Amino acid sequence: MSVIRTAVFPVAGLGTRFLPATKAIAKEMLTVVDKPLIQYATEEAVAAGIKTLVFVVGRTKNAIIDHYDKAYELETELRLRNKTELLKIVEEVKPANINCVFIRQSEALGLGHAVLCAEPAVGNEPFAVILPDDLIYNNGGAGCIQQMVDVYNRKQGCVIGTQTVAISESVNYGMVAGPKLEDKLSRVDEIVEKPAPENAPSDQGVVGRYILTPAIFDKLRTTERGAGNEIQLTDAIADLRKDEEIYAYSFEGRRFDCGSKIGYLEANIEIALQHEEMAEGFKKYLKGLKYTD
Ligand code: UTP
Repeated sequence: MSVIRTAVFPVAGLGTRFLPATKAIAKEMLTVVDKPLIQYATEEAVAAGIKTLVFVVGRTKNAIIDHYDKAYELETELRLRNKTELLKIVEEVKPANINCVFIRQSEALGLGHAVLCAEPAVGNEPFAVILPDDLIYNNGGAGCIQQMVDVYNRKQGCVIGTQTVAISESVNYGMVAGPKLEDKLSRVDEIVEKPAPENAPSDQGVVGRYILTPAIFDKLRTTERGAGNEIQLTDAIADLRKDEEIYAYSFEGRRFDCGSKIGYLEANIEIALQHEEMAEGFKKYLKGLKYTD
């Protein structure tokens, strides 16, 4: 049985919805409370037993690479000052048993193209894809990718993370449809990227979590530009569905769309409310807020 050892993080998008914040840094380095978005994603992967983290980076790559590199001066300084707790926080960004690989996507040709760029690092085995701007919080329960790895281990086929979305929002999602197989698990008979509401096959939207078999790479090589004139992962999955069974998994947990400003603010508020150090003070602050309507 093949196991999931590698996760791909496509972080080479332009992040236009967050300009000017994303002029010089990647959207995935924006902070939710006290950690960058990318770190929530890598921690989710590591918690699922993944050992190799493949970052597909773009123009604004430096901060991401630095975040997962050793910070000699900072670590030495913290050691000298006996700041052991802070030192631990810094050292644990990249656990010692984890490998990081950085691959450049020189042009933002789309998510599908970004995943194809990761092929040399993934090789011929199944792998996870995690979009860090979808922050999925499961309040102490198994992370979304762990849940999906469990499904993969049982089914040995591609698994796509999905959730119910408003039909009016279908233009922002890949949308899937197919018969229900188990509680939370369906077969994907149809998958289409950003359909108009009248063409949406169901109300099940794809979120940024995938377990894919390496056969996806051959499909991506021939996938033409689709929605938004980009090479879409959804279109390659639609092609792969002709050869392999694909599963849609309705995960446990709450997803925050941190690619949008409102989703990003919601994530900050909800995670601050759960934060050991901050929850009490933050609740007090919120209670004192005055609204005009
Ligand atoms: P988005 O659709 O959110 O695009 O990409 P974006 O460029 O990041 O953001 P906006 O819409 O302009 O604000 C979904 C994911 O795919 C990655 C992004 O980094 C994000 O994680 N991506 C997208 C790439 O890595 N390369 C691409 O060419 C496109």
